[in-house]
Amino acid sequence: MLLEVRNLGVSYGNVLAVNDVSLQIEGCSIAAVLGANGAGKTSLLNAIMGVTRAQGTIHFEGQMISRWSSARRVSAGIALVPEGRRILLSLTIEENLLMGAYQRRDRGVTSDLAEMYDLFPNLARRRHELGSVLSGGEQQMLAIARALMARPRLLLMDEPSLGLSPLFVREIFNLIQSLNEAGLTILLVEQNTRMALQAAQRGYVLRLGRLALEADTEELTKSDDLTKAYLGGGVAVNNALHA
Ligand SMILES: Nc1ncnc2c1ncn2[C@@H]1O[C@H](COP(=O)(O)OP(=O)(O)OP(=O)(O)O)[C@@H](O)[C@H]1O
Ligand SMILES: [Mg+2]
Repeated sequence: MLLEVRNLGVSYGNVLAVNDVSLQIEGCSIAAVLGANGAGKTSLLNAIMGVTRAQGTIHFEGQMISRWSSARRVSAGIALVPEGRRILLSLTIEENLLMGAYQRRDRGVTSDLAEMYDLFPNLARRRHELGSVLSGGEQQMLAIARALMARPRLLLMDEPSLGLSPLFVREIFNLIQSLNEAGLTILLVEQNTRMALQAAQRGYVLRLGRLALEADTEELTKSDDLTKAYLGGGVAVNNALHA
């Protein structure tokens, strides 16, 4: 297993945002984390990244990293594409990209930058312009490219398709697929249930901080359990699945 999370708990004062969650992510796979607003998805990713304090243990490539700083986790091979992208609008696109590599001491940064520009021609053309010139979809691409500049083996993605046009949504999912084919393991938080289940092999549903359901996505797509686990019933997920 690339990532093993055991009995993870995140609390903010009295709010138990993540409650006793365990999961195992296989190398080179895509896993989807689904759940309603406030279910604890972001808290889970932030805890794995080490930007939120958490209880429980996290093993990455066999090493216990739960006490490590987030910087050390980045060096070990975990990167986060945060909720809301968090692009620095007053820096140039290139400066934003270099932020993703700020901890690296190897000589590969320049060639990785070139690789990102190959992958994202829209960013290449405007590398010396400010982040603020980019559209929402382009900012999301920049956030992904910035995370890739850390050369991760595990990429945590927090709702990368949120608020984007259908064209960009498709582009994001194509990118997720091709990064995965190149060997990257991806833990994907998504509101776009249908696309996420198509992309991932394994799905996890969080409900009120707890893991309500976990199964192979093929099985999840067919069964009614997803709808039940998601919101305790309701039509919202049915619509998402059949949209
Ligand atoms: N910094 C914080 N301080 C206090 N409570 C918080 C904080 N961050 C999150 N929470 C609460 O923790 C719970 C889980 O929030 P979290 O953001 O992890 O959920 P989420 O599944 O990512 O939601 P969304 O779909 O809206 O992004 C919610 O009840 C939220 O209000
Ligand atoms: Mg969230």
